[in-house]
Amino acid sequence: MSPLHVTRTLPEDATEAALRADVRHGLTVSPKWLPPKWFYDARGSELFERITELPEYYPTRAEREILVARSGEIAAASGARTLIELGSGSSEKTRYLIDALAPSAYVPVDVSESALTQAGQALIEERPDLEVHALIADFTAPLAVPATPGPRLVAFLGGTIGNLLPAERAGFLTSVRTLLAPGDGLLLGTDLVKDEEVLVRAYDDAAGVTAAFNKNVLAVVDRELGADFDPDAFDHVALWDPEREWIEMRLRSRTAQTVKVPALDLAVDFAAGEELRTEVSAKFRKEKVAAELSAAGLELTRWWTDAEDRYALSLSVVR
Ligand code: SAH
Ligand code: AVI
Repeated sequence: MSPLHVTRTLPEDATEAALRADVRHGLTVSPKWLPPKWFYDARGSELFERITELPEYYPTRAEREILVARSGEIAAASGARTLIELGSGSSEKTRYLIDALAPSAYVPVDVSESALTQAGQALIEERPDLEVHALIADFTAPLAVPATPGPRLVAFLGGTIGNLLPAERAGFLTSVRTLLAPGDGLLLGTDLVKDEEVLVRAYDDAAGVTAAFNKNVLAVVDRELGADFDPDAFDHVALWDPEREWIEMRLRSRTAQTVKVPALDLAVDFAAGEELRTEVSAKFRKEKVAAELSAAGLELTRWWTDAEDRYALSLSVVR
C-alpha cells in the first residue's frame, strides 16, 4: 500500500486571512453574503453527506445512476491514467470511475481537510495499487497538481460548478482548461433545470438537515473569528430564481440584532427580516453548459443524463 500523500497548497494562516477578508466584505456590503466554501468544516462536510441521503435531495442519486451506467464508456472515451477530482468530498461516487479507469494516480482536491483525509485513507486501504495525492486547496485559485502520468481526466462532480457565480464559473473553466493538454478531458456534473417545487424541496428538506448545513457557516465564523452569531436567531430560506435559474440559500434574521465579530473589530447590524445570502446553486440546460465550456476553449463531446433527465454528466476536451 502506498502512503497517502497530503499537500496543503496554502498555509493555514492564508485560509484564515481569506475567511477574514470574505467575512469583512460580505457582512459590510448590501445585500450581505458569505461564499459557500466556508460551509465545509468537519461538521459541514458531515452535514453535506447527510444531505446526499435525504429523500428530497435527488442530485447525488441521479449522478450515481449515471456513473454506475456510464463509467465504462467514460473510461473508454478518456483513457486517463491520472484522475484529478475537484471538490472531491467523500469521493464516494468516484469509486465507480476509479474502478472503470483503473488510473495509476488519483488527485482529490478539496478545502475540507477532514473529508479529504478520511476519503484518501479509505481509498488507499481499499485499493493498495492506487497512488493518492490529496491536495488541500481552493479550486478557484490556480492549482499546482503533482506530476503524475497523462492523459488526465479532471472530474468536477456533484453539481458543485453551480455554486459558482457566472463570472466565477467563466474564470474557473478557463483555469481548468490550462490544466488540460490535448488528449485530456473534463468530466463535469451539472444539475438540470426542472420543476420549481422539486428544486425547492431539495434545498428545504423536512428533516431540517439543509437548514443545519446552511446555519453551519455561522458556527464557522463564531469559532474562527470569535463572533457571537446565534444560529437560532436566523431562519433557513431556499428560493428559486426563475430568471437566473438558480436556487438561492439565505439566512433570514428573526429580529433586529447586532452581531459582533471581535477578530475583525466589527459590529454588524441586521434588521428584522434582513437576509444573508450563503449559496447559489445554478441549474443548467445542455446549450448553456456547451456555451460556457466553449467560451473557455473546451468542446463538449459526450452528454449523459439519468433516466428522469434530472442531472447530466458531460465530457469535454480541449478545442
Ligand atoms: N463531489 C462530492 C462533494 C460535493 S460537496 C459529491 O459529489 O458528493 C462540495 C465539495 O466541494 C465539498 O467537499 C467542499 O469542501 C468542496 N469545496 C467547496 N468549495 C471549494 C473550493 N473553493 N475549493 C475546494 N473545494 C471546495
Ligand atoms: C455541493 N453543492 C453542489 C450542493 C448543491 O446542491 O448546491 C450544496 C448544497 N447546498 C444545499 N444542499 C446541498
